[in-house]
This record gives sequence, C-alpha cells and structure tokens, in this order.
Amino acid sequence: MISSFASFMAKKRDSDLSIFRIAHLSDPHLPPPPGAFGWRDIVSKRLLSRIAWRRKQKEHQPWVLAALIADIKAYAPDHIAITGDLTNFASAVEIEAARQWLSGLGATDSVTLSPGNHDALVGARTPDRFAVWSAWLGDGDDIAFPRLRIRDGVAIINLCSAIPTAPHLATGRLGDAQLARLEALLADPAHRDLFRVVLIHHPPLQGAVSRRKSLEDLDALRAILTRQSADLVLHGHAHESLVAALPGPSGLAIPVLGVPSASALGKGNHPAARWHAIEITRTGSAPVSVRVVARGLDPETGQPAELGRYVLA
Ligand SMILES: [Fe+2]
Ligand SMILES: [Fe+2]
Repeated sequence: MISSFASFMAKKRDSDLSIFRIAHLSDPHLPPPPGAFGWRDIVSKRLLSRIAWRRKQKEHQPWVLAALIADIKAYAPDHIAITGDLTNFASAVEIEAARQWLSGLGATDSVTLSPGNHDALVGARTPDRFAVWSAWLGDGDDIAFPRLRIRDGVAIINLCSAIPTAPHLATGRLGDAQLARLEALLADPAHRDLFRVVLIHHPPLQGAVSRRKSLEDLDALRAILTRQSADLVLHGHAHESLVAALPGPSGLAIPVLGVPSASALGKGNHPAARWHAIEITRTGSAPVSVRVVARGLDPETGQPAELGRYVLA
C-alpha cells in the first residue's frame, strides 16, 4: 500500500511547480519513563494527571506511535508539524524523554512542535519553559511565540497555547503579547506572499472541545485571522479528526484541520491514531492547491493505511 500512496504523493519539481509536503501529527502522549512522577507531585496537579493517566495509558500505545512514525518517514515529508501533548505530567524526566523522541524524527529544522497543555501542566509561565525543546520550536534566537520558520515559500507560524492551569482544567491561552506579535507577523508585507500555516495545540473553533478544555482567548485569535488571514491552521488537543473553516478577510475561508492522537488505540472515546499528509502545490499563477491524505491504523491489520483524501483549496 505504501507504494501506491508514495506514487500518489510523488514529489515533482520543475520551473513553475512547487510542492511542499507537511506531515501533521499530534498528542502522542509518550509513555512516562520511570521517575516521571515524584513525591513532590503529590501536592501538585500532577497527582490528578497521574490518576487520569492510569485510565488512559492502555489507550496510548508506543507500538501504535512507532507504526505511525514509520509511515510518516516512508512519506518523507518536507516538514513534520506536531501540535503538542508529547508528555503527560510535564515532568523533567518526560520532557527529556520527549527531546530524545523528537531527535529520532529527523533534522531539527524540519520538525516544528507547538507545545500542549500536558507539556505545561505545572510550573513557571516564563518564555523559556520549553528551552529543552528549543531546536524544534522555531528558527532564530527570539524565544517568544509565535516562532517562525520559512521553508520553500511556506511560513510556519508556531503559536503556544500551553499554560499551567488549575486542577480539572485543560484550557489554553495565547495572551495579549503573543497575539500582538501574531498580528504583526501576519500583517508584515514580507510574509504576504508566503503560504502561511499556523500551528496551535488548542482548536481555534467554538465547541470543538468542552469549555474546560477550550482556548480562553479564542475570540481574539479569530479576530486577528479574520483581519490578517492565514492559509491553513493545524491543531491537536481534541483527539479527533476535525475539518472546519474560519472566516478570513473578504469572505475567504481559512481551513482548519485537527488530527487525533498519534498513539491512540481507538478503544476509548476517541478515534484510533491518525496523521495527515498535507501537500501544498503551486503552479505558476494558478491558485494554491492543498491536498490532504488521512492515514491511520487499519483496525483489521493493525497497520497504517489510507483512510481518505480530500482537497482543501
Ligand atoms: Fe492530548
Ligand atoms: Fe491537550
């Protein structure tokens, strides 16, 4: 099956044809290594997450994630976008294990990570709290989000909605400073002709998740996107496959794609593991075309297979 998939997505380049291929995965919830939960965590939110993890650990299987990663590597994307929740308790041991896992995906400048709420469960809200993962957050020395990467006419704009929250909450927030930087970045004429892909963990969609899991400054984000536009928004957090649109300027629609957890067995309340192959094609002055192939676990074989394909634009 991989050969027909590879031929469908065969990469072609000539003078007026430009193809950029993104593999989008999310919420791998890597298994906590020994020592991921210490006695200090008994008084923190990690205790509740530890209890929740006992319920969820059967659902998030390392072999499932490994099968999906092998499938992604066979696709040989130009870039891998990961929209958060690498860890479960955001402990130092887990963050280091996640760094090692990220290192195995390929060159750091071809993999971009938008952290999730589980990656910021407790602790400081300082801009450098994801310093261990800095090589995967963006280019340049400025550690403030959004981080920016420009590759082959594609701008990858990496937001961070991950914040520590009170027990039983999994909300996200971008904050005024990050939103102002996002608006300036999108309004910058230097980025106008690029295909602008926005990464965020929390869905920028009303009702996509319950209120206790939602993005607090959703309205402000949507207003910026309506004013300044973007070409594609990729998110995680819902552990669901979601295809939606946000209003852009002049009645344009901004496609929004969410992908289920990359390690899910599909035995719980959410679908089995899936990733999206996103092919952005430009030919001369023709409109940009975005093709998506959804791939995930085939319940009969336990192997990755194509689940569907569609064109966004
Ligand atoms: Fe998650
Ligand atoms: Fe999440």
